[in-house]
Amino acid sequence: MILPIYLYGQPVIRAIAQPVEKDHEGLAELIENMKETMYASDGIGIAAPQVGESLRLIYIDVNVLADKFPELKDKRLVLINPKIEIDEESKAFTREEGCLSLPGIHENVTRHSRLTIDYFDENWEPHHEVIEGYLARVIQHEYDHLDGHVFIDHISPIRKQLIRKKLNQIVEGKVSCDYRFKAYGVHKKKR
Ligand code: NI
Repeated sequence: MILPIYLYGQPVIRAIAQPVEKDHEGLAELIENMKETMYASDGIGIAAPQVGESLRLIYIDVNVLADKFPELKDKRLVLINPKIEIDEESKAFTREEGCLSLPGIHENVTRHSRLTIDYFDENWEPHHEVIEGYLARVIQHEYDHLDGHVFIDHISPIRKQLIRKKLNQIVEGKVSCDYRFKAYGVHKKKR
């Protein structure tokens, strides 16, 4: 089932997400719904808070970028309760990012290129991996969502000022995008 995307301004986007319990009811279904929702909105990563679930759960599929980054071929990851350690010694790169919860906004973000991650997959198999390059960026972007952060938290105050109006429009739901969404403003009006 395709779920609506919760936009910037919704409290769940700023909340610290809770760890997923092994017996969490409907977990498999939630993972399937997150996949469907992400593909339907042409995303490469989605975190559970973006579908309104304050849980430490992420789905990533970066296969679509394999032309540019061959190492991303068939890279699909379900990350349950991930813990990351960013290698602060690794080289930092600046690239443009976007986010399903911030439609129409694209800003340069500088991130380190290497990290270590521990997580459980959808079968609760534990993984310990060192990730480098573009995938390390995607993981950091998605991981931010679990701690109530979004990519524009990493941009300069001046850049943020320049997109202030757009941000307000997102909060109010005055955006056009190809997927269903729940904005804070719209949400309030419905009550
Ligand atoms: Ni995002």
